[in-house]
Amino acid sequence: MCGIVGYIGERDAVPVLIKGLEHLEYRGYDSAGVACLHRDSCDLTVVKEKGKLIKLRERLRGRILSSHIGIGHTRWATHGEPEKHNAHPHSDSANQIAIVHNGIIENYSQIKTELLNQGVPFRSQTDTEVAANLIGKYYQSGHLVEAFTKAVARLEGFFAFVVIAKDEPDKLLVFKRSNPLVIGLGKGENFVASDVSALLPYTRQAVFMEDDEYAIIRKDRVEIYSLKTRRPVKRRPITIEWDISQAAKSGYPHFMLKEIYEQPEVVRNILKSRIHRGKIVFDSLDKKVERRLKNIERVHFVSCGTAYHAGLVGNYMLEECVRLPVNAAVSSEFRYEDPIVDDKDLVILITQSGETADTLAALREAKKKKALTLAIVNVVGSTIAREADAVIYTHAGPEIGVASTKAYLAQLTVIALFSIYLRQIHRGRKGISAGKMKSLLSQLVRLPAQIERALKQEEIITNCAKHLFRKQTFLYLGRGYNFPNALEGALKLKEITYSHAHGYPAGEMKHGPIALIDKNQPVICICPKASATYDKMLSNIEEIRARKGILICIGTERDKHLTKLAKYIFLVPDTAAMLSPILTAIPLQMFAYKVAVLKKRDVDQPRNLAKSVTVE
Ligand code: M6R
Repeated sequence: MCGIVGYIGERDAVPVLIKGLEHLEYRGYDSAGVACLHRDSCDLTVVKEKGKLIKLRERLRGRILSSHIGIGHTRWATHGEPEKHNAHPHSDSANQIAIVHNGIIENYSQIKTELLNQGVPFRSQTDTEVAANLIGKYYQSGHLVEAFTKAVARLEGFFAFVVIAKDEPDKLLVFKRSNPLVIGLGKGENFVASDVSALLPYTRQAVFMEDDEYAIIRKDRVEIYSLKTRRPVKRRPITIEWDISQAAKSGYPHFMLKEIYEQPEVVRNILKSRIHRGKIVFDSLDKKVERRLKNIERVHFVSCGTAYHAGLVGNYMLEECVRLPVNAAVSSEFRYEDPIVDDKDLVILITQSGETADTLAALREAKKKKALTLAIVNVVGSTIAREADAVIYTHAGPEIGVASTKAYLAQLTVIALFSIYLRQIHRGRKGISAGKMKSLLSQLVRLPAQIERALKQEEIITNCAKHLFRKQTFLYLGRGYNFPNALEGALKLKEITYSHAHGYPAGEMKHGPIALIDKNQPVICICPKASATYDKMLSNIEEIRARKGILICIGTERDKHLTKLAKYIFLVPDTAAMLSPILTAIPLQMFAYKVAVLKKRDVDQPRNLAKSVTVE
């Protein structure tokens, strides 16, 4: 986690850094800081503050820091409490260099002991200060690259660094291992950041760094080198298609609400580029990948959090479409369980950020075992997208709200398409009929307009949230395709409202959770009419009514029976059971959002969380 930025050029560096950090604050917001070199004297100034970026901005108000080069950081604490002295940038004890860091230095305590024994003083509890002091120890004026590479070669763990030295005001020095780093190319100026959203106000030309590479960034040139060989590396810049308005709130009170409302467009874009003349096409899957896909005997979805829920839905989708055995696993379990995977297995990694540490480790484990790996990723050029054998981008645009919404819908849509695509290329095997495929395609095309209709329930949902937002616990129930949405609805509520919420397969209710139900217990039942287990859900609903639970139902438009049973009802348009979670997710997201607003929670940056979990 943590967001890092760097700038060198003719502009005033500090405002550029602050703007960059605004786009990266989703990665962590315990403290923030900047360091820069004075334009004339090259003095090193470090300013940092505990709390969100706004505190740092207040601290900087009225201060003139005339500088052409600087680095910035927004922190999600790992080593050391979220206090000002632990905030980045950190400098070495002689204040010659300053560094920002995203990641963990695993052998920091050993090196710290060594430095302490040599009389080097420390001001923080962070692992980062160890890197600063190690570089400082090796540093001789004019030889930053040598000191930096010597120090980095001794560090173990996962990290991205940006360093400046007061005696070398012509360069930023950056390094990447596992954690993301992208260089933005400007005219007479260059940038570096944890992700492209921080570059968008200035440039769309980006170069993604690979693991164990360092780069020397000057205002008019960028040189990348391999740490191992010390040889230069040539890499073509990529043009980033996202535009800056996608990364701004555009009049919405929160990114989360904006992103919920972007969903019709997101799904429309995915379908537009992937359905041609009644067939599904994935341009990114070449003939070689297609050949391997035809011989696949088992599929694993591997992912975390919301993306895991997308994997669970994918489990049902693929099994229905191609009748292959499918398993959905949480990345942190998969990576350590010595998974039974070989070259006949397809491992699908689902991730919005493309940087989640456990999912990345799971990908590497699957590759080691010779599985075909496919990444379903939102962030273009991210580590998982680059390392997987094949990638399908969800193209949902930047998702800034920590609670994932549009990325989830995009993942579900891509997985639905992929399931039908696999059936297309798996002719001769078991699976859904040509007629069923055709019908699914025509229902997919209707989804964007149907999502728009589902969004019209906002007022009804607000009303329900007003009655229920003080409740302490919520139970979410669903079956089949909508069981994962019960988990997802509960996760959304937990993470942004801090209320307890539990998702369950409705059939399990009698095996325990039914004991919770009384007249004070809200129970959210997801019950679309097309579901094969609709009648079973109705029976569960009757059981809840019999115990006087507060029933909130998510059902299909014109379902009069369900409307009669529920105390509150949110209706979505009718679609195939397989596609129904794409619609039922909308009221679940909106309900969590409304409860969070009524509870005055920090919707986009909930406590203790970060958007991208790049540590284990
Ligand atoms: O970037 P990823 O999709 O790999 O992230 C996975 C989870 O960390 C993420 O979905 C998390 O659970 C969200 N906060 C959920 O809203």
